[in-house]
Amino acid sequence: MPDITVRTGSMTFENPFVIASGPPGTNRQMIAKAFKEGWGGVVAKTVSLECDKVNNVAPRYAKLKSREKGEVIGFQNIELISDRPIEIWEEEFRQLKAEFPEKMLIASIMEEYEEWRWREITQRCDAAGVDGFELNLSCPHGLPERGMGGAMGQNTEMVENVCRWASSSTSKPVWAKMTPNITDIRVPAAAAIRGGASGISAINTILSVTGVDLKTLRPYPTVEGYSLPGGYSCQAVRPIALRMVSELGRSLPREVTISGMGGVECSSDAIQFILLGSHTVQVCTAAMLQGFGMVKELIAGLEKFMEEHGFATLDDFRGHSLQYLTTHKDLVERQVQARRERAGQSARDNEWDGDKITRQSEALTSNTDTPASAKP
Ligand SMILES: Cc1cc2nc3c(=O)[nH]c(=O)nc-3n(C[C@H](O)[C@H](O)[C@H](O)COP(=O)(O)O)c2cc1C
Repeated sequence: MPDITVRTGSMTFENPFVIASGPPGTNRQMIAKAFKEGWGGVVAKTVSLECDKVNNVAPRYAKLKSREKGEVIGFQNIELISDRPIEIWEEEFRQLKAEFPEKMLIASIMEEYEEWRWREITQRCDAAGVDGFELNLSCPHGLPERGMGGAMGQNTEMVENVCRWASSSTSKPVWAKMTPNITDIRVPAAAAIRGGASGISAINTILSVTGVDLKTLRPYPTVEGYSLPGGYSCQAVRPIALRMVSELGRSLPREVTISGMGGVECSSDAIQFILLGSHTVQVCTAAMLQGFGMVKELIAGLEKFMEEHGFATLDDFRGHSLQYLTTHKDLVERQVQARRERAGQSARDNEWDGDKITRQSEALTSNTDTPASAKP
């Protein structure tokens, strides 16, 4: 049986599958359910010091469905962070760690750009017993209006400072969650590591407008006739998430933990994130659409894949596929070389092979199609 344990810093996940911050980790009862179903860890819904500043609307989701079968391929939300008081969260973190000591509980935290705020929220969650932290520097809607979330994640100086404030307030691992709404994700990720983060989570949702109702002419999700661009998730974002995770996998030092996410619905999706460098794989929307029980297929499918390839541990194949991502120039050169080899052409004198001399001579001849009648 392959070993699917993930050990990273002081955290040990019994499997790499982690509930991403969002509705599936929105209170103690939901998180307990996730643990009971078999998830290795949960990143709780993002918490801040002042929940009374958080005012959610309803409805706040919009689905993009496929034209043929109507399955959900994209999911937009305009949900904010937790509207529950930090005091309640502290109590629930304590209860959860007492009930599930072996499971990894990660606090997702977000604050305004003031050092004391980040220090206080980190220290309070630390004292409540969480195993690690994820800094939400990436929520794309609502909170950027207060200079939080994605607004901070797009500013490298802020990313570096926030990571420094949080990571120097705890001895536990601190992951910085990146926004995809940026040109080059490697830049804020490098800033986060300079600031002391030990891991990078990617990606948060992509700014989107899911559609416009052709009867009412109002964009979705429609609240009192109005809307705003929100965060896009689910399978439609997976190729973008895989690309961004691969950029992190190729650019970050090996000791940095990568927690990949975006559109994971089944084990084959999750395995691709590991092949491109992820240590853990997070899931939010699919857990909302399929339920927490989906983790059973994630585990079984991962173990089957590892058995088929003879991999004993996740380290045996983590990042394996990164070596096959290269430049376009290199692809062209490889193709020229492959064509030459297929044609049996020799570019260098020592490539001549006695058994292939006639084929190689022919392959090096340029006018092989000259009609016989044209010969003297
Ligand atoms: C309804 C909803 C609420 C979310 N809330 C949060 C949040 O509070 N904090 C956060 O860091 N990410 C939040 N996310 C983003 C997810 O954690 C995740 O980064 C994103 O949805 C991509 O993964 P997925 O395709 O598996 O959902 C939310 C996503 C959804 C769909």
